Amino acid sequence: LTVLVLNGPNLGRLGSREPDVYGSQDLVALTKQLGEAAPDGVSIEVRQTDDEGELIGWLHGAVDARTPVILNPAAFTHYSYGLRDAAAMVTKAGLPLIEVHISNPHARESFRHNSVISAVATGVIAGFGFDSYRLALDQIIRTIG
Ligand code: DQA
Repeated sequence: LTVLVLNGPNLGRLGSREPDVYGSQDLVALTKQLGEAAPDGVSIEVRQTDDEGELIGWLHGAVDARTPVILNPAAFTHYSYGLRDAAAMVTKAGLPLIEVHISNPHARESFRHNSVISAVATGVIAGFGFDSYRLALDQIIRTIG
């Protein structure tokens, strides 16, 4: 089993971007932590893009390959109907798609309070730093691992 961990815009700057909000660890550290948390037989593929079309293409690929998805849509969370429609294809195909956020968007600016993704996600985990991803991985393992 492979679990795709997809990250949207500006998350390639983790570690140096607003460390007070997102912490001081980078995507390499996230990849290592998730790899260590994954049980035998489960491989983790962490990707990041600033490009909406590329992220949508990765969701299409998840449908075709029947791969569960952990998705941090970053700022696309709040306005990308294209990403939402692609996320809906994943869950309508019967695959889990868990929306994650490092910060708790509800405790931040009002434009972050709405997610156009959540209604088509299997579930949402936010506010636990990198542990948001690990909790999502645990849930995917519990349900299909
Ligand atoms: C984020 C929250 C979003 O509002 C923001 O645009 C991000 C990161 C998070 O992980 O906390 O880029 O998705």
